[in-house]
Amino acid sequence: MRIVLLGPPGAGKGTQAVRLAERYEVPHVSTGDILRFVVAWQTDIGMRAKSFMDEGELVPDDLVLELLRIRLAQEDALQKGFVLDGFPRTLPQAEALDKILAEIGQAIDVALDLRVPPELIVLRLSARASCPTCGRTYNLLASPPREEMKCDRDGAPLLVRDDDRPEVIQQRLGVFERQTRPLVRYYEDRGLLRAVDGAGSQDEVLERMMNEIESVQGTVA
Ligand code: AP5
Ligand code: MG
Repeated sequence: MRIVLLGPPGAGKGTQAVRLAERYEVPHVSTGDILRFVVAWQTDIGMRAKSFMDEGELVPDDLVLELLRIRLAQEDALQKGFVLDGFPRTLPQAEALDKILAEIGQAIDVALDLRVPPELIVLRLSARASCPTCGRTYNLLASPPREEMKCDRDGAPLLVRDDDRPEVIQQRLGVFERQTRPLVRYYEDRGLLRAVDGAGSQDEVLERMMNEIESVQGTVA
């Protein structure tokens, strides 16, 4: 399966991508996670990307595409597919993705658009902590880890993201509206879009997403 997850910051893309990747045995590819990794390692791309991320702006397409190409060329993604989380974010990224896949005779199977009201987004992002090792996210109010600020799965100390400050959250929401929202139409025009209500418990949202995936799976197999 080749799944794209759309939706605003805090919609639950990362949370559900981890679970979908486990369920369908495909890699979880998050450009946000990859970017945070290259920033932490102070690579050339990381150093160029950092200021955009700190301000809640999108990292330029050419940098993100360079990282994505490398990741999608790895054997697991080539063989099994992927859950793409946080990519594409602009029309040029969506077009580039289609081109990269077409070159190897592949295509996106479904784009799931997670829809969550803005007030819930702010609540969720203000309570988020994530594991830098396995990518699992926690809502410190609704679903905290068993041990304070430690990942249930691997015990790593949890991190609060630099861009989850209130003013940067607002900036990210504005960027989403201007630059990423048009992708809904892009995937709708291609018959690939499935809207999913992202409010409710994590299990409820996962079930809705799986229902949509399974409704297209018959046509993909
Ligand atoms: P990125 O890391 O992609 O961040 P984002 O899109 O802003 O989205 P988030 O990760 O904040 O939200 P999410 O939908 O994953 O929510 P989560 O599951 O964590 O990007 C960060 C930055 O990197 C960008 O600003 C940009 O600079 C750059 N970047 C990345 N990709 C790029 C690209 N393609 N092009 C250019 N620049 C790029 O959930 C949020 C919280 O809610 C968590 O605490 C979670 O536990 C909780 N939660 C989730 N679901 C539920 C539920 N059902 N009930 C209760 N709580 C829930
Ligand atoms: Mg995320």
